[in-house]
Formats: sequence, C-alpha cells, structure tokens
Amino acid sequence: MDKLQIQGGIPLEGEIRISGAKNATLPILAGCLLADGLVTVSNVPHLQDVTTMIELLGSMGVSVTIDEKMRIEVDSSSIKQYFAAYQLVKTMRASILVLGPLLARFGQAEVSLPGGCAIGARPVNIHVAGLQAMGADIHIENGYIKARADRLCGVHLVLDTVTVTGTENLMMAATLADGETVLDNAAREPEVVDLARFLCSMGAKIQGAGTDRIVIEGVKRLGGTAYEVLPDRIETGTYLVAGAITSGHVRVKNARAEHLDAVLGKLQEAGATVSTGDHWIEVDMRGRRPKAVDIRTAPYPAFPTDMQAQFAALNTISNGVSTITETIFENRFMHMLEMRRMGAEIRLEGNTAIIKGVERLTAAPVMATDLRASASLVLAGLVAEGRTEIERIYHIDRGYAAIEEKLQQLGAKIRRTPG
Ligand code: EPU
Repeated sequence: MDKLQIQGGIPLEGEIRISGAKNATLPILAGCLLADGLVTVSNVPHLQDVTTMIELLGSMGVSVTIDEKMRIEVDSSSIKQYFAAYQLVKTMRASILVLGPLLARFGQAEVSLPGGCAIGARPVNIHVAGLQAMGADIHIENGYIKARADRLCGVHLVLDTVTVTGTENLMMAATLADGETVLDNAAREPEVVDLARFLCSMGAKIQGAGTDRIVIEGVKRLGGTAYEVLPDRIETGTYLVAGAITSGHVRVKNARAEHLDAVLGKLQEAGATVSTGDHWIEVDMRGRRPKAVDIRTAPYPAFPTDMQAQFAALNTISNGVSTITETIFENRFMHMLEMRRMGAEIRLEGNTAIIKGVERLTAAPVMATDLRASASLVLAGLVAEGRTEIERIYHIDRGYAAIEEKLQQLGAKIRRTPG
C-alpha cells in the first residue's frame, strides 16, 4: 500500500486550483439514472470514489465514457439490471444514492445495505422510511434493500435528522413521483443545491433547495443535460488550513467563498488574513503563530464535520487551549490519537476534544483511518519537525485529487512511496 512522506516545517506559498466537489459529483452521477437522454457532467474530480460510482453504473449496464478532461458522459438507456452489489457498496456508502433514482424511474432496485463505517454507525433508515412513505414496498433480505414501486407518490415528509444523502435520495426519487413532495428539515448543504440545479436542468421541478423545506413537483420524464459540478468546499478549506498551519500564504482558485462562511470565520479568528474575490480565496498567516479556536460541528451553514479534523490539526500547534465538539458522527476523533503520537496534547471527553496548543509537533509514523482524518495527518506532517510517514493513504485518494502535486505546487516536501 502506498505511503505519503512529508518533510515538515516549510511555510506554504503559492496558488492551486480546486477540483470539482466529490459530494456533489456522486449524487449527480447517481442522478443520471433518472435521465431519458444523454447526460454530460464536467468539472468531475479525479478520485477513487468517482471511479467507484462509475463502476457501479457500469455494473448495471449503463454506458459511461470519460474523456481526458474528466468529462463524463452517461447514457442509461442500456441499463440491464437495477442492482448495487455489496462488493461495491462496502467500499463506498454513497452507492446508496442509486436507490431513489432506480426506484423512481424503473420501479425496482436492489441495493446492498451499507454496513457501519469507521466514523460512525451511519444508518440509512431515513432514506428507506421516506421511500416507503412515497409508496415503495421495501424489505431487507440477505443484507440487501429490495424495493419496488409502480409509481412513487408525492408526500409530505419531516426528516427525523438532517441528512445530506437522505435528502438527496428522496429529492431524486420525488422528481419522477406522482404529485408534490415536501421535504421538511431538509439538508441545506451546497451539494444538495448543486444536485437540485442539475436535476432542474434535466426538467425537474424543484423549489427551496438550500432551505430546510424543499418542494418537488413530480414530472413524467427527465431528459439529458450538460452540467458542470461546483468546486469542492472541503478541499478548499483543507488547503486554506494548510496555508494557516504552516504560517504561509495560500491562494486557491476555482473556489466559492460563499460556501465557506463558517470555515473562513474560524480562520480569521485563528489570526489569518482572509481575502476573497470572484472564485478565489487567499489566506495569509505569514510571520504569525495561529491562535486556538473552538469548533462545534453541525449541519450547513454551521461548521462542517468534514473540516473538523483539519482544524484539530491547526489547534494542536496554535497558541492557547481549544475545544472541538463533534455532533454529527460518534466516532470521528481517530486522528486525535494519531496526532498525540506526534506530540499533540489532546484530552478526549466524550464527543469533545480539549487541545492545548504546543510549540511544535514531531514527526512520527501515523495511520490514516478515514478520508478527513488522513487530510488532518497530512496537515500535521506539514508542520511537524522531521519526516512524517502516513500509511493507508488510499483513504485520502477517495477525496483529494492529486494531493501531493497540489501541495508540491505550494512548496511542500511531500512524496508518495509505493509500499
Ligand atoms: N443519519 C441517520 N439516519 C439516516 C441518515 C443519517 O440517523 O437515514 C444520521 C447519521 O448517522 C449522522 C447524521 O444523520 O449522524 C448525518 O449524516 P448524513 O446522512 O448527513 O451523512 P451522509 O449523507 O452519509 C454526507 C457526506 C459526508 C459528510 C456528511 C455530513 C456524501 C457522499 N457524504 O454523508 O462526507 O460528512 O454528509 O455532512 O455527501 C466525507 O466527504 O468525508 C464525508 C464523510
């Protein structure tokens, strides 16, 4: 298995381009199943999870072609089976996103039930209950969700918990349902809005995406479209923290500041000068040590759980004591234990980490446990004294396109070694 080696201590300086958003691309590719026509998706990030979603569509007989610019063409007219195998779903939970589209368009779906995950139990009960309320006949058999429906019916749903992929699955299902569906307590993440815009470009009638009430008027048919995915706000935030943690000066382009209010606010609180413009953001922390900042994760527009680990890394070397409270996933602190091995002073109390900033971290061999945890270990390695070696970096390839190249572009000494 490949490893990343990082020689820490270099203030990052320069400009990089942000890739398309993973968590918008995945539902959009699943949403292609709804289209009676050819769909072209551009600004797709080069990531393992995207490859898995393409493989999943291909395994159903859907024709998927990719050009050298990562523009993807999807034609679902050749679909042969409405089946998502355990072998694929176990490697990527977002595979569950094919459930709503398959059921809505083809009246049947058999999708492996995702199991637990490194960061939490992550049930999909809200996806299933919502589809049942829309008239689907669903039962779980041999680890698979088996679903059938002649035509789904519009309903008024109040979601028990704010769920991103749950909102997306139900919104997609409702586009072809009979009548109006109202999703209350819907997720407001920019990726939900991007998916809604994509669906509308195929002819769907959706209002309120980006608020906690989404109203979908079902239509009989959705057609083909060409759509460009929005930039990845979590990748953006990660590189901005890389600038701040190294007391550097980093500019990201193809980024949307308006999706990062909570994150940019925390970077400013940490002492960084943050400037934004049309599709670019800059963080300047030159000559300064960051100040510790308290973080509490919550659904958008509050501070994202997907940026929690990166700010934990920042706080380990910041001036002062901070608390980090994780409210979305029950086991998203594994990076804390690895950072302790690099000299971080972290105490865990339930879902809160208390971090006392130290002057310096020291390099150590560490292990990536999930996607954002691995990003935080890269950040810690960028400031640690000595050479940090990160194992199990396949996690990072799921969500960060060309991470070594982008960090090298900013002056970091980082390389991948085959293991
Ligand atoms: N939940 C339920 N029942 C459900 C669905 C969710 O109890 O049916 C709970 C979850 O267990 C969790 C909370 O609701 O406690 C929120 O989970 P959510 O469903 O919003 O998470 P998700 O849709 O599975 C997406 C992202 C995650 C991101 C979360 C939270 C995608 C493909 N994944 O997951 O991204 O952390 O929203 O913002 O969009 C990542 O990119 O590293 C990542 C993990």
